[in-house]
Amino acid sequence: MRVNLYALATVVFVGASIAADTSTKICPVLGPAFPAPVGLSSEKLFQAAVGSFEDALEKALETDLSTNGPGQFNTTTMSIGMFSTSEDGLLYQRHYTDPAVRNSSFGTQQVDSRSIYRLGSIGKLLTVYSFLISVGDQRFNDPIAKYIPELVRDSKTVKSQNGMTPDWNETTLGQLASHMSGLSHDYLLHGLITEPALFRSGCSPMYSNNGFELLGLALERITGSKVGDLFTEGIVRPLALHDTSYAVPKSTQNGVIPGNTTVSGWANDAGILGPAGAPAQTRRWMKPVTFTAGINMAVGAPWEIYRAQVGGRTVDLYTKDGGWGAYATLLVLVPDFKFGFSILTANLIGSNVGAKNVYFIAEMLGSSILPALENVARQQANATFAGHYTSIASGLNSSLTVLVDIQPALRVENWVSNGTKIFEEVIGLDSTSGDYIDFRIQPNNLYSGNEVGFTRAWQIYRPLRHQLFDMGRDGSDNLREHWS
Ligand SMILES: *[C@@H]1O[C@H](CO)[C@@H](O)[C@H](O)[C@H]1NC(C)=O
Ligand SMILES: *[C@@H]1O[C@H](CO)[C@@H](O)[C@H](O)[C@H]1NC(C)=O
Ligand SMILES: *[C@@H]1O[C@H](CO)[C@@H](O)[C@H](O)[C@H]1NC(C)=O
Ligand SMILES: *[C@@H]1O[C@H](CO)[C@@H](O)[C@H](O)[C@H]1NC(C)=O
Ligand SMILES: *[C@@H]1O[C@H](CO)[C@@H](O)[C@H](O)[C@H]1NC(C)=O
Ligand SMILES: *[C@@H]1O[C@H](CO)[C@@H](O)[C@H](O)[C@H]1NC(C)=O
Ligand SMILES: *[C@@H]1O[C@H](CO)[C@@H](O)[C@H](O)[C@H]1NC(C)=O
Repeated sequence: MRVNLYALATVVFVGASIAADTSTKICPVLGPAFPAPVGLSSEKLFQAAVGSFEDALEKALETDLSTNGPGQFNTTTMSIGMFSTSEDGLLYQRHYTDPAVRNSSFGTQQVDSRSIYRLGSIGKLLTVYSFLISVGDQRFNDPIAKYIPELVRDSKTVKSQNGMTPDWNETTLGQLASHMSGLSHDYLLHGLITEPALFRSGCSPMYSNNGFELLGLALERITGSKVGDLFTEGIVRPLALHDTSYAVPKSTQNGVIPGNTTVSGWANDAGILGPAGAPAQTRRWMKPVTFTAGINMAVGAPWEIYRAQVGGRTVDLYTKDGGWGAYATLLVLVPDFKFGFSILTANLIGSNVGAKNVYFIAEMLGSSILPALENVARQQANATFAGHYTSIASGLNSSLTVLVDIQPALRVENWVSNGTKIFEEVIGLDSTSGDYIDFRIQPNNLYSGNEVGFTRAWQIYRPLRHQLFDMGRDGSDNLREHWS
């Protein structure tokens, strides 16, 4: 359904007509409830949320306390940025330079937007990104043995301690990219071949640096190019990233280097562990591959996906964190809002403490900003789409009302199509028996440019009228069109 094809007549407003039964829990389709918010830098609600995040951050810098717990904020150098695909440039940036960096004889003494941090494991995400740009995801089900046959050859002659060698013929590139290979975290004293498998491939997610080494090697064999060159050609050049590099920059200029280049980890080369499409491929990429044991966390390739409750619905955050020497970093993308943020930090105490700080800051930021984004999206949808629509075709008695309430997604009421009351006559709503319908439309991404398309998702709630087939919660017979 594309409401913008209907001629807009009068804008009739049905107040804040919330679900008659406010305990009714709407079950929306996963994905954005409203078109992603645009023009955030001039939205008061967004600016107010930025203000409350800044207040929380300033308080943390003064007291080292955050609402989620104590951190070591004021001895951490940090750069925080927020961005939206609807605007060029950053929506927000904040840089804080701690005494160790102000005092450092290496790199910058004052952090700003040109300052360079080490990214750590965010490089894994960039390796997969490079892979997708250069090769695509069509080979994700190919076994690694196809590209690195030495693995099979050597595993015939060398055995791991317990004999349980990974099966390289069934371990796929996609599993290597998503921590689903069953390989160990790092190979320590032995070699990859002699390190026993932790699981069979495809069973359980287990963080594996080894997986990314192999993926990088496969990428080099497939393309005949070095991962670093593919990174430069595929990402750095097209995006004109002046200060981003695969290898450690030769110069420390603009580097954020607390202490010195050794203690900070600045100079340590990650080798192949360093950063090693098409829209449809990107959509495939931005999905989970597996659950984790955590109820709110899934893993992609190699996204770390957190599920947040925002405005009464689930919003998925696609993240990747990194830790390297003094550096702790986090990149967060929120596809529902076409919004993201990054937190880059350096802290002489090390990346374990750094990671704690980073997640505390992410909590501060997310708890202020995400609800505001949903509300801005709701307000913008209200301004753009809410109203009473009637057909202008002569003789055609068709109309409907679109409105927003406090629940996710635009709501449709009073839908009449060519004289037929859709809810009553087609769906079978019986208001006299206390039936209640919640009919909503959610953006579907089928259109581009200025066109927005919506797909319906509706539920009908009937007071319990039979015992045997109770499909609902709370004693109501709840029919969910999109999942029943
Ligand atoms: C840093 O935090 C501590 C509390 O841990 C506080 O005593 C100190 O004043 C803060 N330093 C600065 C520069 O704000
Ligand atoms: C700054 O450097 C001086 C001289 O190297 C040192 O004495 C001092 O402790 C340093 N201060 C901080 C906060 O690192
Ligand atoms: C893996 O495939 C190779 C080549 O097809 C074969 O020689 C080898 O026996 C296979 N290994 C296992 C464990 O299936
Ligand atoms: C770096 O700093 C550490 C700790 O202060 C010190 O032990 C080391 O000698 C320094 N290295 C260099 C190259 O200055
Ligand atoms: C939607 O817009 C109308 C008209 O501008 C306004 O009265 C109403 O409060 C808005 N509703 C919400 C939930 O923002
Ligand atoms: C509307 O309904 C009338 C009467 O049932 C029918 O003749 C006409 O074809 C319908 N128009 C459309 C566009 O469906
Ligand atoms: C249009 O159809 C609705 C539903 O059947 C009906 O209540 C209404 O009176 C009709 N309006 C006109 C102008 O025919």
